[in-house]
Amino acid sequence: GAPVEVDISGLKPGEMMTVSWRGKPVWILNRTDDMLAEVKKADPEVADPQSKNPFTMPLPEYCNNEYRSRADHKNILIVVAVCTHLGCSPTARFTPGPQPNLPDNWPGGFLCPCHGSTYDLDGRVFKNKPAPQNLDVPPYMFTNGGKTVVI
Ligand code: FES
Repeated sequence: GAPVEVDISGLKPGEMMTVSWRGKPVWILNRTDDMLAEVKKADPEVADPQSKNPFTMPLPEYCNNEYRSRADHKNILIVVAVCTHLGCSPTARFTPGPQPNLPDNWPGGFLCPCHGSTYDLDGRVFKNKPAPQNLDVPPYMFTNGGKTVVI
């Protein structure tokens, strides 16, 4: 399909937007420094920290890093918003701390309401969850000085 161009100039730190790409919802999340710190903390808790096991969509080479994002805008996370278990739509739950249905050490991320898979702020699935892989990262690039994402 045709590339999707998204103006992210108004996307403040901590904010997320959803766009449609090839018929699927895609999240664009502007992570704060605190959120990036939570990603590091989640490393031992996720099933596949290095995203070695993607199978529906190859991880773009330039996102094969700690933050699963382009190095020049590492705070911007772009993932396909479809649970890798059976395709439900997870919901964003960014608030850290104990919450109903979430582990006590919840670092913020995404929760799938269907069978309880949880993902961190990199879109990496936590251990012992039904989802078999991390959320997919579509190929993307920045233009217009980082104000526009092309997916
Ligand atoms: Fe998300 Fe089953 S579809 S956990």
